[in-house]
Amino acid sequence: MKNQEHRPKIIVTGGAGFIGSHTVVELWNVGYEPIIVDNFSNSQPWIFDRIKRLTSKGLQCFHIDCCDEEKMEQLFLKLGQIIGIIHFAALKSVNESIEQPEMYYKNNLNSLQTIINLKEKFNIPDLVFSSSATVYGAAEQLPVTEDCNLKPATSPYGETKQLGEKMIREQLETGAIILRYFNPVGAHPSGLIGELPIGVPQNLIPYLTQTAIGQRDSLKVFGTDYNTQDGTCIRDYIHVLDLAKAHIAALTRLLSNRKTDVYNIGTGEGHSVLEVINTFEKVSGIDLRVKYTNRRAGDIESIYADCSKASLTLKWDLKYTLGDALKHAWQWEKGLHETKAEAA
Ligand code: NAD
Ligand code: WQD
Repeated sequence: MKNQEHRPKIIVTGGAGFIGSHTVVELWNVGYEPIIVDNFSNSQPWIFDRIKRLTSKGLQCFHIDCCDEEKMEQLFLKLGQIIGIIHFAALKSVNESIEQPEMYYKNNLNSLQTIINLKEKFNIPDLVFSSSATVYGAAEQLPVTEDCNLKPATSPYGETKQLGEKMIREQLETGAIILRYFNPVGAHPSGLIGELPIGVPQNLIPYLTQTAIGQRDSLKVFGTDYNTQDGTCIRDYIHVLDLAKAHIAALTRLLSNRKTDVYNIGTGEGHSVLEVINTFEKVSGIDLRVKYTNRRAGDIESIYADCSKASLTLKWDLKYTLGDALKHAWQWEKGLHETKAEAA
């Protein structure tokens, strides 16, 4: 294990969040010194204690808003040589972005502009940016490849991802990798970190695990009349640790080829909502209370990734199955429940 002082420094914005926290642990495991910058708008300070348990007591975390360019600049000056930035920090709720679009444009676009400015100012070689499969909308072809046409965004959140990609391409011809994530799920196998939804979850897996633990009455399946094998929507669910590893692969790629580029990060396999429910019931031994309801507005029928570009060029591959991801998400939910019970 490398000493802290010999580790190349990587700034991880949003590093206390769901995907960021898992990536910080992976960065540490392969010999980097990840430095977290987070405003804790969608995380909790105790998550940082958990990250330290998985890495090192000496890990640094700065409570700063990435839109605050002055404070960010002071931080970069203080830290000295930084070799890369992974920019996760963003607001991510599709519904909230429709209700409060300005907040999404300001937070997601200003934070990215700050990062691009500082990358240039401090000559930081590499940037990895979190984009989303949402940029494809209802894709023209399945599996979806990176060169498929992007559809006009259907939410301000989606717009910030399309604009974010455009800002990077226009301002950084080299030194940036854009990763388009499909549906990140699961949690760390240790049970120490995972997804922390605030309020009622909108996404399938946290709603499912909260139903299984008894926090929600039943899981609603949104639509059973889609043109799919069992009538429910199809998505590409990727374990968060496999996704985390794609960021390490992207940093490694940038060492040898600095051209700005984009990659799909999914599993290449689509699973229906019913398949997810059946797999969860199998790995947890729980019978879920399920209700079949109407379609959710805005949902697309089916999307899954062609990940051959990432697998060939980034030399990145998968370790976990959907069953593993659901097992780990369930372990995390049970741990959260115990923590809450102890605190009460
Ligand atoms: P998350 O909300 O768990 O993590 C984001 C973190 O960024 C949070 O800890 C939050 O406090 C922080 N943050 C937000 N705005 C900030 C700001 N201005 N300054 C500093 N910190 C700020 O979300 P996540 O699921 O880990 O997503 C990470 C990234 O991946 C986001 O950019 C998101 O849009 C993108 N993404 C997520 C998904 C998904 O389904 N989770 C899918 C595709 C893309
Ligand atoms: C998955 C499937 C639902 C909840 C969203 C964003 C996307 C990206 C990931 C950031 C769908 C069904 C869900 C429930 C259900 N985020 N479902 N009952 O919609 O693919 O993507 O998160 O970039 O931008 O749109 O993910 O988890 O919400 O839904 O039946 O209670 O589960 O209809 O088919 P989605 P999801």
